Amino acid sequence: MQKPWEGRFRERTEKFVEDFTQSVSFDKELALWDIKQSKAHVKTLQKAGILPEEEASLLLKGLEGIEEEVRQGRFDFRVELEDVHMNIEAELIKRLGEVGGKLHTARSRNDQVATDEKLYIKDSIGEVLELLRELRKSLVRFAEKSVDFVMPSYTHLQRAQPIRVAHYFLAYREIFLTDAERFINAYRLADCLPLGSGAVAGVDFPLDRFYTAELLGFNRLCRNSMQATADRDFILDLLYACAVCGMHLSRLSEDLILWSSEEFGFVELPDRLCTGSSIMPQKKNPDVLELIRGKTGRLYGNLLSLLTTLKGLPMAYNRDLQEDKEPLFDSLRAIKDCLTGMRLVLEGMSLKEGRLYSSAGSFSLMTDLANYLVLKGLPFRQAHKVAGSITAYLLEKGKKPEELSLEELKSFSELYEEDALRLLKPEASADRRKVFGGTAREEVLRRLEVAKREEGLS
Ligand code: ARG
Repeated sequence: MQKPWEGRFRERTEKFVEDFTQSVSFDKELALWDIKQSKAHVKTLQKAGILPEEEASLLLKGLEGIEEEVRQGRFDFRVELEDVHMNIEAELIKRLGEVGGKLHTARSRNDQVATDEKLYIKDSIGEVLELLRELRKSLVRFAEKSVDFVMPSYTHLQRAQPIRVAHYFLAYREIFLTDAERFINAYRLADCLPLGSGAVAGVDFPLDRFYTAELLGFNRLCRNSMQATADRDFILDLLYACAVCGMHLSRLSEDLILWSSEEFGFVELPDRLCTGSSIMPQKKNPDVLELIRGKTGRLYGNLLSLLTTLKGLPMAYNRDLQEDKEPLFDSLRAIKDCLTGMRLVLEGMSLKEGRLYSSAGSFSLMTDLANYLVLKGLPFRQAHKVAGSITAYLLEKGKKPEELSLEELKSFSELYEEDALRLLKPEASADRRKVFGGTAREEVLRRLEVAKREEGLS
C-alpha cells in the first residue's frame, strides 16, 4: 500500500510500525464528522478560488458517496492507511482519480483531527445532555410518587433526621443539574474551530475561516494556529464532566444497593434489571447498579490518562496526542450507558413504605425534642444536653422515644408539656423543616412544582 509520504522514504514501513501507529481501528468512530468537515473544507477552498466549481462538486459528490457507505456500515477501513482521515482520502482518490488528491489542499491532519474531535464532542454532549434530562425527569417522577412517605436521612451512615422520601430524589435531581452545567461548559470550550491552522503555523492559502466556522456550526475560531493544533484541553473538560457525573451515579448506586439489601429493605428492584446467582438460589443481585458504580474507575482513569499524556509535550502537535481518542470514546460510551441504566432502575424501582416509615422514627427524633425546649426559651446547647440525657436513659431502659410518657419527659425538663408527645412522629418532625430547601411536605411540594416546570413535566 502506498503512503502519502513515500516520496521522501527509501524503505517500506515495518509491519510492526504500521500496527503500532495505526489509529483507524478506533478513530473510525470519527468518520462521519471527518466527512462533514471535508465537505465544509471543499466549499471553503472553492470560495477562496482554489477549487473550480466542477471539481468542488465532484469532491462533494464523492464524499457523499463515502458518507452513505459509512452510514450503512459498509465502508472498508484498512489498517495500512493508518487513520480515518487517510482512509477516507484514499477512497476518494480511488473513486475520483486525480481530483480526489485536491481535498487535502490547505489542510493538515493536525488541524483536521482537532476539528473532527470538536465536532464529534459537540454532538455527543448533545446526546449526554438529553440522557441527563431523561434521568432528571425520572427522578422528579419518583419524587412525585413519594412525597407522602417519610424515611430516615443519614449522616455518617447513622440515622439522622426524618425526611420526606421525595426530598432525597429531588436532591439527586439538583446534583444532575450541576452535571449538565459541567457538560455545557465542556461544549462551550469545544466550540472553537481549529481548521485553517494547518500543521502548526496556519495555512498559506487565503481561506475564509469564518465561512468554514459558519458551515460547521462553530461559534468561535481558534485564534492561534499553534494553540489550535496542540490543544486537547477541551477533551479533558469533557472527561472531567464524565468523571464527576459518574461519581454522582456511583454514590446514588451505592445508596440504592444498600437500600435493596435485606438489612435495609427500603426498595425493591425490578427482576428485569437484576441477575441471579449460579449457585445460591435465593439471590437477586443489583448488578446494573454495581456496574454503574464500577464504571467510575474507568471514568477517572480516562481523565488521568489524558492528563498524563499531555504533561510535558513540547509545543505543538505530537503523535502522543493520538492517545486522546480511546479515553474519549470510552468515557462517552460509559457515561451514556450509566445514565440509561440509572433511568431504567428508577423507572422500575418501588418503595417499601412501611419499612421506610418504621426506620424514620425513634432516635431520629431527638433533635426535635431538643428544639422543643429551644422554642420554650432554653439555649440550644442546654437543650441538646437534655435530649442527650433522654437518649442515654432510653438506651439504658431499652425503650423507644415514642414510648416516653409526659412524666418521664418532665423528669428531664419541666418545660415539656403534652404537645411534646405529638412531636414524636417522623412526619411531624420532617414537616417542621419549612425553611427554603427544607424537607417539610409543603416545601417539598413547592420544590417539586418548580422541578416539574423546569423539566417540562407540567
Ligand atoms: N491519527 C492522528 C492523531 O490522531 C492524526 C494526526 C496525525 N498527524 C501527524 N502529523 N502524523 O493524532
